[in-house]
Amino acid sequence: MNAFFGRRYTLSASHRLHTPQLTAEQNRAAYGKCNNPHGHGHNYVVEVLVGGAVDAETGMVINLAMLDEIMQTRVLDRFDHTNLNSDPIFANRVPTTENLCKAVFDLLGHALAPAILAHVRVEETENNFFEYCGPINE
Ligand code: NI
Repeated sequence: MNAFFGRRYTLSASHRLHTPQLTAEQNRAAYGKCNNPHGHGHNYVVEVLVGGAVDAETGMVINLAMLDEIMQTRVLDRFDHTNLNSDPIFANRVPTTENLCKAVFDLLGHALAPAILAHVRVEETENNFFEYCGPINE
């Protein structure tokens, strides 16, 4: 039997969307006001969905306290109240929320085993959300 458990976390961070691979004009066209030099902040809502077998003894897919601890140490301590552009993960990768989803997914990696990370969903604003489910061809 497979079941899924989802949990939400909040994370405040700033970013600037800009890539050196585009000209200043192309950056403005691609990212609009998100390309402004001073950056801007978001109160992100990060949702993780964990799937797996229901443990016969505990009745759970994953221990909630363990998930919280892993999220805290691997993701929240790293990104909360930071400038995402300053993180080495985004040294050569624009800190869009698509890439933030991927970063969270990759930082969690296989740490939730034997449960499996099914997806990471990040709400950037009340109107925008993004989701990453791992490499497409895997
Ligand atoms: Ni933004």
